[in-house]
Amino acid sequence: MPTLDERHAAAQTALNAAGQSHVLAHYDALTEAQRTALLAEVEGIDWPEVTRLIETHVKQKPVFAIPEGLEPAPWYPHTPPDRDKPRYAQARTHGETLIAEGKVAAFTVAGGQGTRLGWDGPKGTFPATPIRGLPLFACFAEYLQKAEEKYGAPVPWYVMTSPINDAPTRAFFEEHHHFGLDPANVMIFPQAMMPAIDMATHRVLLKSPHALALSPNGHGGSLKALWTSGAIADMKKRGVEQISYSQVDNPIVRMLDPLFIGLHALDHAQMSSKMLPKAFPKEKLGNFCLVKGKMTVIEYSNLPDALAEQRTDDGELRFRAGSIALHAIRTDFVETLNTGADGFSLPFNRAEKKVAHWDHAAQQTVTPDTPNAVKLETFVFDALPMTDASIIYETDRVDEFGPIKNADVPGTVETDSPASSKQLQTERAARWLESRGVTVPRTADGVVDATLEIKQTTAIYPEDLAEIDLPNAVAAGSELLL
Ligand code: UD1
Repeated sequence: MPTLDERHAAAQTALNAAGQSHVLAHYDALTEAQRTALLAEVEGIDWPEVTRLIETHVKQKPVFAIPEGLEPAPWYPHTPPDRDKPRYAQARTHGETLIAEGKVAAFTVAGGQGTRLGWDGPKGTFPATPIRGLPLFACFAEYLQKAEEKYGAPVPWYVMTSPINDAPTRAFFEEHHHFGLDPANVMIFPQAMMPAIDMATHRVLLKSPHALALSPNGHGGSLKALWTSGAIADMKKRGVEQISYSQVDNPIVRMLDPLFIGLHALDHAQMSSKMLPKAFPKEKLGNFCLVKGKMTVIEYSNLPDALAEQRTDDGELRFRAGSIALHAIRTDFVETLNTGADGFSLPFNRAEKKVAHWDHAAQQTVTPDTPNAVKLETFVFDALPMTDASIIYETDRVDEFGPIKNADVPGTVETDSPASSKQLQTERAARWLESRGVTVPRTADGVVDATLEIKQTTAIYPEDLAEIDLPNAVAAGSELLL
């Protein structure tokens, strides 16, 4: 074990080489605990990479060039044409078998800071459902409980946090007794961090004299964290072959979808995605494209209007497939990325943010009014071009996409807010009940006139409702929890 002085010397050398020696300028005035904490943060950063990124992403804004030969990517439609029905049936059975054999793990990325929602705590602790106000993490646990019952095998669940929300996330799981799941099947691990960089001076910012202003390095960091945390090793030990990736913000996500996993596995894909047809040309979803045959996501902000608005002969958007950040990933793909001779890195994205920082001269924390710093993040979908094979499966918006991203605004239903998600959860429950012959009250414009919540332990597919007693009708204005 190196001594504190040796660690200090090594950190100083790395920081000097990176032109960031100010980080340790006040080291001598710190307590031993503060020195240890600051050195641990410095040691967690790849300084040569930071130096390179300052040149390419801070001193200048990287220019996005639309790749030549860009084409829309093909996908498996939600409803297959008759000729493909046997293929879908085979895929569903294959996916169910993989889950039943314990070869599929659920993976939730929950390391984001959730600033837009303004919730004081990990986003997974946010109350999400319309009647019980069940927290997001508990929604996922209920899904897994039902899946374990349905497919007859435990499903290992991996949750990626960040050093900022790791402790409160673990405490929440403990406090709720892992929501009834076996703790041996739940693994929580943090992702890596990146320092915020001052746009004017190109120096990394400090949050206090003994801490860097750090933020999570983007959900792309999951592909490294899965490896460095030992999660992949744990999966290999358990015989897990496929990772079902989803985000923490969507209470109705199908954490494991046998059809999607089956289509992906039968096509020997390494990383695959679910898509939704975009509602309009510039909807804020990444666009699935092919570039020289390689699956690629082009962010909505980077897709030129002319391409976004192109239509096919039948009047549909040509670039229609929008990313909702759901992926199936082979464990050996993650392993190969991390063990390749040259390592691997995903491209970084620049975001200009307001970052509070320590002003040593004034001996206080300064909170800026306008963006003062660059944050650097990688995106998981940028691994798609690294695959040899990748498929896309179209899902249904009401069945699977009710994310909570933005805070509620009184008097309106904000897009992707708690209110819009609850509305969508009620609509989904209504459709499922109607499919079982239950009469659901609706207003003249078709909106459900009741508040409905179907626990995921009750049903994760409409067919699951066949197992329980249902009312003939739901009373207008009532609440119904099943
Ligand atoms: C994301 C996608 C968008 C997609 C949408 C679907 C990007 C750039 N955009 O947008 O294409 O249509 O979801 O809902 O990804 N996270 C981490 N660590 C991080 C950063 C984020 O774990 O360092 C996690 C968050 O906890 C969250 C998820 O990644 O679960 C999404 O993060 P966020 O930055 O909020 O992406 P969106 O803007 O919602």
